[in-house]
Amino acid sequence: MRIAGALASWRRARLAKYVRADWRETFDRDGFVAIEGIVPEAEFAGLREAILGYEGEAREMIQGDAITRRMAVDPAMLEAIPALRTLLRRQDVRALFHYAASFRIEPLHYIQTIVTHANGVPDGDPQEALHADAFHSSLKAWLFLNPVAADEAPFTYVPGSHRLTPQRLDWEYRRSLADPRTIDRLSARGSPRARPTDLVEMELPGAAALAVSANTLVVADMIGFHARGGSVKPVERVEVWSYARRNPFLPWISGDLLSVPGLAERRVGWLWAARDALERVVGQPWRRVGLRTPNSQPQNCAAMRDRRISSPQKL
Ligand SMILES: [Fe+2]
Repeated sequence: MRIAGALASWRRARLAKYVRADWRETFDRDGFVAIEGIVPEAEFAGLREAILGYEGEAREMIQGDAITRRMAVDPAMLEAIPALRTLLRRQDVRALFHYAASFRIEPLHYIQTIVTHANGVPDGDPQEALHADAFHSSLKAWLFLNPVAADEAPFTYVPGSHRLTPQRLDWEYRRSLADPRTIDRLSARGSPRARPTDLVEMELPGAAALAVSANTLVVADMIGFHARGGSVKPVERVEVWSYARRNPFLPWISGDLLSVPGLAERRVGWLWAARDALERVVGQPWRRVGLRTPNSQPQNCAAMRDRRISSPQKL
């Protein structure tokens, strides 16, 4: 963790000058930055409408009582929604993505829909437990198309928990000694869960749930402790979701051939196809659900129909 952390800092130092100073300062302090009104207001309504109405091949995954739908931001979607291409090509946004990822790579972009309380499964949504994604830095970003209230499954993050303080490293070391069969499955797979008492041990503050207005971009380092906040009622969140992770021990910042335009926007389709082909070996939680729009009703969700959940435009 120390070596990966030092290399991430070194790579970020080389990417820092391209990032807007106020965004960078907030990101360095908290581990994430939330930028309201990222798309010019005059253009946001059109972009949102185009995304919510776009019909394309979708995949769905069920985790606990939440259903996640993803549609790849692929050449067809970029062709149909030029404003989305404009946004993802913006120099200021790309520079922030690169800085957070600590690499000059193109993230994978998706349109993501999350439906909570979908199946009435009692064991809940594992994304609601505070956790770090991995032992090293990586990027996730959300452009929220609708407002998200604090009790509607918001982005939740422990501010400052991206720093490898002596307390964090000590906690990680002690966890590494535990028998993997005695800790929960996701922690054992390298994505450690943190309870409130663990945060106290690491001298970290409590998690903050981020209520956001529509048209807010959140960019975060996923080595910090985060969760999807709980929701008191069934909600549906729709967002442009971006993700980048690379070998954390590489000393250079560029050189990712698949980040080249023309290839970059085809990667999600390739990844899905590869997992389909290897399903028996590696599993494939992302089920094909055919042509959907971001706010179609989830296919796997009988309970949704019973409960007559309102359309996402109201959320
Ligand atoms: Fe996570």
